This record gives sequence, structure tokens and C-alpha cells, in this order.
Amino acid sequence: MAEDVIMSDRILIIDFGSQVTQLIARRVRESGVYCEVHPFNKVTGESLAAFAPKAIILSGGPASVLDIDTPRAADEVFDFGVPVLGICYGQQTMVEQLGGEVQTSDHREFGRAQVRVTEECAIFDGIWHVGAEEQVWMSHGDRVVRLPEGFRVVGTSDGAPYAAIANDERCFYAVQFHPEVVHTPHGAELLKNFTHGVAGCRGDWTMAAFREQEIAKVRKQVGDGRVICGLSGGVDSSVVAVLLHEAIGDQLTCVFVDTGMMRMGEADEVVKLFRDHYNISLVHRDATDLFLGKLDGVSDPEQKRKIIGATFIDVFDEEANNVGGADFLAQGTLYPDVIESVSFHGGPSVTIKSHHNVGGLPERMNMALVEPLRELFKDEVRELGRELGLPESFVGRHPFPGPGLAIRMPGDITREKLDILRKADAIYLEEIRNAGLYDKIWQAFAVLLPVQTVGVMGDARTYDNVCALRAVTSTDGMTADFYHYDMEFLGRAANRIINEVRGINRVVYDITSKPPGTIEWE
Ligand code: XMP
Repeated sequence: MAEDVIMSDRILIIDFGSQVTQLIARRVRESGVYCEVHPFNKVTGESLAAFAPKAIILSGGPASVLDIDTPRAADEVFDFGVPVLGICYGQQTMVEQLGGEVQTSDHREFGRAQVRVTEECAIFDGIWHVGAEEQVWMSHGDRVVRLPEGFRVVGTSDGAPYAAIANDERCFYAVQFHPEVVHTPHGAELLKNFTHGVAGCRGDWTMAAFREQEIAKVRKQVGDGRVICGLSGGVDSSVVAVLLHEAIGDQLTCVFVDTGMMRMGEADEVVKLFRDHYNISLVHRDATDLFLGKLDGVSDPEQKRKIIGATFIDVFDEEANNVGGADFLAQGTLYPDVIESVSFHGGPSVTIKSHHNVGGLPERMNMALVEPLRELFKDEVRELGRELGLPESFVGRHPFPGPGLAIRMPGDITREKLDILRKADAIYLEEIRNAGLYDKIWQAFAVLLPVQTVGVMGDARTYDNVCALRAVTSTDGMTADFYHYDMEFLGRAANRIINEVRGINRVVYDITSKPPGTIEWE
């Protein structure tokens, strides 16, 4: 029952490869409507019928409808009988497919532009009024020059005479600008007018509803099988564990593998919360000796990552067998990991880093996957965590990479270095919390450099390591800006680290953004 009610209003976003397609999904979900992003070439009459959207949004994209073999929406999209909104390339393909015309223009528009509202339109309701000039964000070379039958123009800009068009009878709307980006200040409201006003979505997709729906789904999928879940202490796996525990109780066993490269107090916190507070069956395996033994003398970043990934799988496998095997493996896979983005560039993408996760296990152990967060973005996972009553200290945690402190320590890994880094990192984070900055920062951590410098402490010469501090703001970890602390704060944190941590006599602050840097140092 719950599943039917919650899933009745869905929007399908057809992806033509725009850099900002995911933002359309964000905006639609923020307005309380469930939606999914599907690549244009996977949408067929059949898939439409199965997904049963209340409306369809066509995304932007880098191609030109004037070139041969460029993407088009399946014809069924326009015959399905639901409202359709085309954005940028989505507008152009809609116009071309319905009999209008698109041309390349000398007057290209990139960035801020003004749209003059020329006529009333359902997607402008209550926001944009006839005669107004409204700020939007554009990014296009081609433009519509002739409308298909049944369409009227409702907004124009200098570079796009058909900046906004409407076919009221069929409930087809299209805009040359991008309503999904924040640089179109009323964009979210325009989208909401489309999803709620035109398509009639109720906006009742809440985390409370999602929780019920996922619990029902997990029960159905798992039956009376056994599920094993790797806990890392991070927010994703914590939310998965609590959700599953609520769904299937004792059928769940969590395994926490302590690699010896966790942060200060981390292992204790995880065990306390899950075993003592939630009463979740938890295996705590201290595998420090094994991991550090395998990493002895290894300093190449990719080698470190590979060794840790493989060792993790071995240990997890062993522990899973110890608890009598499992039929399912629960993972905290998120929506950005499963969106099959459209790539026009072809060819395999370059591996920047081998990410550590429990990939490889399901095949090896013959387990099916349970992935209750597959449909959520990171901040939605946090919201679900709150909904499940997880303490804020877990829900709001900064991400922590699977390989742990190993990749925050260029060069080889030793117990001594790990201890030094753990202490510096704990002081840095304590200072961040004391200053009330923790929630303003996506991720902050200390890095121990394999570089020694000369210092003077208490009139004596020191020759100790350099510690780098890192802090970034980001929305998804894909791009990031370094955090702009005030110097007082940095001075205070540096001072404490140098005074309190033996082995560090100099602190530097990393002011590299991503790109060109990455967030972690290795
Ligand atoms: P980078 O360093 O690639 O990191 O800019 C982007 C985000 O991913 C995290 N990260 C990882 N997370 N396993 C993880 O679970 C990994 O192997 C891994 N490597 C990086 C990183 O902390 C940041 O949030």
C-alpha cells in the first residue's frame, strides 16, 4: 500500500548529457516529488509505461540537433499523454521533433541573461508577470527560429527570440534557459509550477514516507534471509544499518573492520552506538596487524589503495563466514553512483584513484545486494538518518574515505606516524567544532607530510614533520573549494598542534581547490 501511494507521483528526467542534469532532479525532489534521471537512449515506450511518470522533463546537453546522429527523445515521449518540459537542448529537440526549426546563431548566450515575459504562461504563474525582465542562466549556441504547430512564445531574450514557449493544449512547455541552476533565481519555482501546477503532483514525497517504503521493500526482498552489512562509521553505512535493523531485526549482522587507520576514538564510537545503543548484532574485528603488515614499506598511493581494498575484502569475507554466511550484502550506494550519465566523449575515463569499497565481494560470496539508498542524494541520506533517529554527531559527519589515514600520509605507513596524525587530526577537528565551523565545511582533516623541517622549541633545535591542514566546501565531493578560514583560527589550530603533538613542528594550510587538486592527498 505505502509503496503505491508514495510512488504514484513520479517525474521522469530524460538526460541528454548536460553537466547540470542532476540539479533538475535535486530541484524536483526538493519540491517533494519523486523523480529519476534516465539516459535518453534507454527511454522507450515500454520503459515509459513501466515508470508511469506524471510528467517528463528533457534535460540540456552538449550536442546540436543540427548535427547528424545527435540524441532525440523517443517519439513515445510526446505521445504518452503527460506534460513535457524541455530545457535548453531539450527545448531544441522538442521543437525539431514536433516540426519546428532550430538554427545555429551568431548571438550565443553563456551565463546571465534577461528574459522579457511577453505572455502569461502556466509555468510563470504567480512568479513572472507580463512585461517583467527576469534574470536567467543561459548556455547555448543554437536557438529555435520557428515554432511547431500549437506553440506560442511566452518569453524572449536578446539571443533567443523563443526563450520560453508553450503549447497549452498538450501541456508542453520549453525554455532555452536553465531553471535548475541557482543563477536563475526563480528557477525552482518555475519547475514547481510545472510539476505541481501543470502536472498536478502532490509533493508528498517525504523522508518519513521513504523510510516506510524502503522498510517494506527490504522485507520483501530479503524474506527470511540473512544480511551482512559493512559498517565504516560513515553516515551512509550507518543509515543503511539502522534502516535494515528496523526492517529485519536479528537477520542483520554488521561487521566493522578496524584497519588501524581510523581516526581517534572512531572504533569505540561505532561499537558503542551500534552494539550498545541500537543493540545491532555487530562483529568488531581489529585487523590492524594484518593491514599494517601488508602495507609495510609501501608508499605508492595506488598500491596502498589496492592493498587496503583487497585486504578489506579478505577480512570481511572471513568474518561473514564466521557468522555462518549471508544471502545478502547491504551497501550504502547512493544515487549519484548509479545515475548512468550520458557521455558524448566516448572512450574509457581516466582512473584518478582506485576507490575503496566492498565491490568484488558479492560475486565472490555469491550474495545479492541490498541497496536502500540507491535513490538518494547525500543530503537526503542525512535527512533519512535524522528521520531514523541517528544522533546528529553521526548524521552530520564529514565523509571519511575507506582507505582511511593511509591516504592522508604520503610515503610509507608506520604506527608511529599514524599516532602522530591521529592526534593532530583530533585537535584540528576539535578546534573546528569549538569555532562552530564543522557544519559549514564539507570535509576537514590533517595530512602528515614525509617532510622534515628545522624548528626551534624551548631554545632547542627540532627536526620534525610538517602537518598540512585541509578543509573544503563542496556539495557532492566532485568539485570543491578550499575553505576560507580567518587567520586567527588557523593560527590557533596550528599552535595547538605544534605544542601538543610530538613529532610535528610546522603546520601549513592547503589552498588548492578541486579541480585541479583532489580532496584527499592520495
Ligand atoms: P577525492 O580525493 O577523489 O575525494 O577528491 C572525493 C571524495 O571521496 C572520498 N574518497 C573516498 N571515499 N573510498 C571512499 O569511500 C575511497 O577510496 C575514497 N577516496 C576518496 C574523499 O574523502 C572525498 O569525500
